[in-house]
Amino acid sequence: MSAFSAPKGVPDYVPPESAQFVAVRDGLLAAARRAGYRDIELPVFEDTALFARGVGESTDVVSKEMYTFADRGERSVTLRPEGTAGVVRAVIEHGLDRGALPVKLCYAGPFFRYERPQAGRYRQLQQVGVEAIGVDDPALDAEVIAVADAGFRSLGLEGFRLEITSLGDDTCRPQYRELLQEFLFALDLDEETRRRAEINPMRVLDDKRPQIKAMTADAPVMLDHLSDVAKQHFDTVLAHLDAFGVRYVINPRLVRGLDYYTKTAFEFVHDGLGAQSGIGGGGRYDGLMRQLGGADLSGIGFGLGVDRTMLALRAEGKTVGETARCEVFGVPLSEQAKLRLAVLAAQLRAAGVRVDLAYGQRGLKGAMRAADRSGARLTLIAGDRDIEAGTVAVKDLFTGEQVDVAITTVVAEVISRLGVTGS
Ligand code: HAM
Repeated sequence: MSAFSAPKGVPDYVPPESAQFVAVRDGLLAAARRAGYRDIELPVFEDTALFARGVGESTDVVSKEMYTFADRGERSVTLRPEGTAGVVRAVIEHGLDRGALPVKLCYAGPFFRYERPQAGRYRQLQQVGVEAIGVDDPALDAEVIAVADAGFRSLGLEGFRLEITSLGDDTCRPQYRELLQEFLFALDLDEETRRRAEINPMRVLDDKRPQIKAMTADAPVMLDHLSDVAKQHFDTVLAHLDAFGVRYVINPRLVRGLDYYTKTAFEFVHDGLGAQSGIGGGGRYDGLMRQLGGADLSGIGFGLGVDRTMLALRAEGKTVGETARCEVFGVPLSEQAKLRLAVLAAQLRAAGVRVDLAYGQRGLKGAMRAADRSGARLTLIAGDRDIEAGTVAVKDLFTGEQVDVAITTVVAEVISRLGVTGS
């Protein structure tokens, strides 16, 4: 047993699984970049107040799950639990909203939530996200959702569904909130649930306990009380999704775990994952930018869980990103040959070929085993006699064929056999 292990609830991704991680992250990011989102790289820790104000004090994320500490200058900082608040902070700080709108940004990286670890729920989680800020256009909501859908599908993922609702706007939400509270306060709720009903009544609708579910089965839902503006917005989002052929399920009881959402809210759910079935989610946030000291501009975005997407792919029996470690493997049989093959390896790498060598004193058999394991198609084998004769044996591991090639032409020979253009 090693003396140390990774922190509780934090996954390591080691080879070969790490290739899958990179492929999922890059695949989801590529879908965003294809729709004109530009990369933004932000700090993993921020002023604690940013999240308290941005994400909402009443959320579990802020009240129970933040990694908050005082730095050496006694400033309270927090490891980012999500990406939207930081992006909006940066847009305001750098005046990005003074340029063309919407500002379309994408990001990938680790986020931190002190949750109770379980399958698919980690304390360091990885997300790919986008934010489109500055335009309140339902067509943009539909684009954001379609980008997420396309990202998942580009990885070969199929067994997921999109759940969507509208959480209303400034004009209809306060009235609905009162209506819901009236309904909830008439129920025989336990102390904690009653408190939740006071602070954020919509969250009670998300309670998974059967008795609460039964009691709230007839609770009023926001969708039935939308303002004309919010309703029109929602209908247009759905019409766009219909036109794209992006399938969805309207879930009027969908509740997101973060406070900033207004109008469109959505979640991608995969049934192969057990309790932690959300592989991505997002929505529109009308008031966040102003709340954080910026202009009164709306935004919409998503966060897709890279870890859970990997689990979902596994549940579907699919792998992505599995490529052979290298294309060419050098097997030197003497010190002199090792130097010569190392030089050839450097030349081939410069030409874009992936090359590795056998190191240490393994002998021919051990080195050939390593060549096999590397996934290489070609091996370059040389001993003192070959080097003195000015040749290297090139063996094709797929066909078993082996020929001696002059050292001066090995690079060209390998490139032509692999069909590499050398760019
Ligand atoms: P979120 O729903 O809190 O949204 O997280 C997005 C996704 O991150 C989830 O659907 C899930 O796949 C993954 N995730 C969250 N927590 C964990 C965890 N503990 N372990 C593993 N995966 C997890 C947001 O974070 C918003 N910032 C999304 C957004 C962007 N809304 C608007 N713009």
